[in-house]
Amino acid sequence: MADFKIAPSILSADFAKLGEEVDNVLAAGADYVHFDVMDNHYVPNLTIGPLVCEALRKHGVTAEIDVHMMVKPVDRIIPDFAKAGASYITFHPEGSEHIDRSLQLIREHGCKSGLVFNPSTPLSHLDYVLDKVDMILIMSVNPGFGGQSFIPAAMDKLRACRKLIDDSGLDIRLEIDGGVKADNIRKIAEAGADTFVAGSGIFGNARSPIPTSTIPSSSRCVTSWPRRADIRPAGQLFCAHSLKPNQAANKRYEQTKTDPDRPRRHPG
Ligand code: DX5
Ligand code: ZN
Repeated sequence: MADFKIAPSILSADFAKLGEEVDNVLAAGADYVHFDVMDNHYVPNLTIGPLVCEALRKHGVTAEIDVHMMVKPVDRIIPDFAKAGASYITFHPEGSEHIDRSLQLIREHGCKSGLVFNPSTPLSHLDYVLDKVDMILIMSVNPGFGGQSFIPAAMDKLRACRKLIDDSGLDIRLEIDGGVKADNIRKIAEAGADTFVAGSGIFGNARSPIPTSTIPSSSRCVTSWPRRADIRPAGQLFCAHSLKPNQAANKRYEQTKTDPDRPRRHPG
């Protein structure tokens, strides 16, 4: 079986208590911390930068931090993220004038490198640089916001990319990002992904421009769950992705249920 990794996107976490949020998902069995960097230029949203990455390291996070840069240009900020403790640094080909150089720069600074493909961006950007990437990230939504729906065409792209990686014999992770939920993660895994980003599917409160009324009622229910209970959707997701129960994560969740301080679900 593939070496599956779950990478919760902290875009949907409560930034007012980010350290605790990250501790919770890692305790629940998450592998990487997916760190979405948006610049209000390449994408129409503004999020977090190297200072926050460094703060997570100082907080004691030792898991791999998977920095997804939705910025343009990319080269100036790469050394800053490396210094701040990033493990992976991935960027969109549209964000760099010289893709090969940017990939080299990431590795020169001791990080693992990756390219990110928007729904309409062709995989041909990998031609001639496949040996310089440690991760390929397929976007199954257009970048910029959490809580969007999975774009089905990403499945074909995953299959094509899986073949590309397997044929090359290179050690490259194949990550999927956008609209990943407990009910579609198995099919996504079957299409070839081995690394799964999930924001609203885990934290349950996407910072999204989508009006709440358009979100299905089951998701609205999840968004009303208190923070501590966020461990539960994470646990469900891990079960679905590994195709077998994650005993350790479920046991930890059961333990939180007996905690007298556990916040209750909002009435109604
Ligand atoms: C979108 C970001 C994603 C986002 C995913 O631009 O790259 O990482 O947080 O959020 P969900 O899982 O809610 O689609
Ligand atoms: Zn992302």
